[in-house]
Formats: sequence, C-alpha cells, structure tokens
Amino acid sequence: MSDSSLPKDHYVIIALDFADAESALTFVRQLKPKYCALKVGFELFVAAGPALVETLVSQGFRVFLDLKFHDIPNTVASACAAASKLGVWMVNIHASGGPKMITAAREALDCQATGPAPLLIAVTVLTSMDQDTLHQIGVARKIPEVVDHWATMAADHGCDGVVCSAQEVAAIRAQNRAEFLTVTPGIRLPEDAKDDQHRIFTPEQAQTVGVSHIVVGRPITCSQDPQAALMKFYTAFTSA
Ligand code: C5P
Repeated sequence: MSDSSLPKDHYVIIALDFADAESALTFVRQLKPKYCALKVGFELFVAAGPALVETLVSQGFRVFLDLKFHDIPNTVASACAAASKLGVWMVNIHASGGPKMITAAREALDCQATGPAPLLIAVTVLTSMDQDTLHQIGVARKIPEVVDHWATMAADHGCDGVVCSAQEVAAIRAQNRAEFLTVTPGIRLPEDAKDDQHRIFTPEQAQTVGVSHIVVGRPITCSQDPQAALMKFYTAFTSA
C-alpha cells in the first residue's frame, strides 16, 4: 500500500560513479532527464569539477551534488553558496556538524538562489558504520537513536530531508513533517545483482515504506540499455 502523504515528485537518482567526465557524459547521453536525477559524488567531482555539473544542469538534468559538506559553519555556508551558483537541485551535509552548521548552510542556499533554492539533505550515520565504530568515536547511543536524533535535528534547523537506509525511513517519517524527504540507496530489482549492498530494498518496497527518492547506481550505469533500466526502476517506484 502506498503512502498518500508522500511528496508529489519522486525520482530515481542515478549515481554517476564514473572516473571521468567523458565516461559520465557518454552514459548520460542515453538518458531522458524527465525520469531521473543524477548524483555527482567525490570521485567524479574531483576528476571533472564544476564544469561537468554545469554541463549536466544545462542539459536539463537535476543534479544532486553529493559532497557531504562538514566543516565550520562559515566554510560550509560558502561551499553551499558555490553549489547553488552551479544550479544544482540538491546538496548534502553531515548532520553531525550540528545546528549552527546546518543553519548556516540553509541560510546560504536561501540567499544565493535566483530560482528555487537547492534542496538541503543531511547525512546521518553512514551505513558503513556499525555500533563498534560509533563507540570508537565516542558515541555511546544505539545507531537507530542517533539516526532519529540527527534526522530530527536536521529537520528542525532547515534541512529538507535526509539520506538514509530504507530500514530507517518509517521511524524518520513518523517523527517529522510529511514533506520531509528521504533519499535512499541500496535499491535493486529482484533480478539484479546485489553487488556489495547488504540490505536491499526493491523500488516497490521503498515506495511502500515512504522513500521519497531512490538512489540507484550499477543496475543502471552498467546496463546495456540505461534508459530501459531506468524506466524499470521508475515504473516500479512510482506505480507501486
Ligand atoms: O551501484 P549502487 O546502486 O550500489 O550505488 C549506490 C550509490 O549510493 C553509490 O554512489 C553509493 O556510494 C551511494 N551510497 C550507498 N549507501 C549509502 C550511502 C550512499 O550505496 N549508505
């Protein structure tokens, strides 16, 4: 059963995990912007820089700049302002930077944007971290408690949503306003290889628990027909 309180637009965010601009642009030429957004992360951004982001934006794609800013509030605000000038659709920061950093990011995005400000998304506890790792860095609380605490703190200080695992979505949605976005990787169709993902949700399951946008990489980027692969995810996610 779908959650009717979900926000209206749901996208498949394709993780552009490519090593250079040429590979990314060759891949992107096979896609229609209407059905997807594109996630540019560290690898591609360090290799190809802001020029690639501007090219993707000029081609009509929504771009999620996945650089997970985490620094003093002034520096994060400046980075967000620079991202906003590139015309990106979504940027992210680490919730663990705290309320002042989050507020500075929000204010910088709001005052730079000529059109709608980029969406501000928080990363809570990275899914690569386990309870032992949290303990090692001095955090004694259980992972779900930390995720809920940081998600609510992010919402209270101006974030539009969080990146989280599908398993965390129900709790996050229960504690936050209906429009609060959940952006979720670890998505596979039943016939796909799991690759190195451990806890897989299908697009239908993601929709059922209330995920706003799914992040999908290899099942689309490694496909012989990326637009057809994208449409399988899009259809399954939006018509569940
Ligand atoms: O190829 P695949 O669909 O596994 O790619 C998922 C994308 O989502 C990658 O860019 C990966 O870095 C990112 N991601 C993830 N798990 C997280 C956070 C981000 O898989 N917890």
